[in-house]
Amino acid sequence: MSHDLFLAARAAMAQSHSPYSRFPVGAALRTADGRVYAGANIEVASYPEGWCAETTALGHYIMGGGGRITEIAVVAERMHRITPCGGCRQRLAEFAEADTKLYLCDDAGVVETVTMGEMLPYGFKGSILK
Ligand code: THU
Repeated sequence: MSHDLFLAARAAMAQSHSPYSRFPVGAALRTADGRVYAGANIEVASYPEGWCAETTALGHYIMGGGGRITEIAVVAERMHRITPCGGCRQRLAEFAEADTKLYLCDDAGVVETVTMGEMLPYGFKGSILK
C-alpha cells in the first residue's frame, strides 16, 4: 500500500512550482476510508511567502473533508530521503496521530518508514487551547 502513496507524492512533485530553489517536493496522505490527497511545494518571488508540499496536501485533505490520516509519503527529487521540515511536522501532527506512518522516499520508492511520534517527539499539543 505504501508504493501507491509514494506514486501519488511523486506525481504531485511533478507539479511543483519551485523556480527559486529548484527543489521540487511532493507529499501525499491517505485517510482511513481510502481517500488520497497530494500536494507540491509552491514558491513565490517573495521567498518567505512560499509553502511546502505537505502544506498543500493538508489543504486538499481539509477541503476534501478531513478524517483520520493513516499514512503520509514525502519525496524530493534532489534528496535521497527527505524528512518534513519542522513547521510541516507540526502541521501534520495537527491532523495525524503519533502512530501514523510516514514514508520517507527517494525517486524509486519508500526508503524508510517512521511514525509521526518519532518525527515530532515532544511536539506542542493544542488540546489545552480548546
Ligand atoms: N520543502 C517542502 O516542500 N517540504 C519540506 O518538508 C521541506 C522543504 C520545500 C520548501 C521549498 O520550496 C523547497 O523545499 C526548498 O526549501
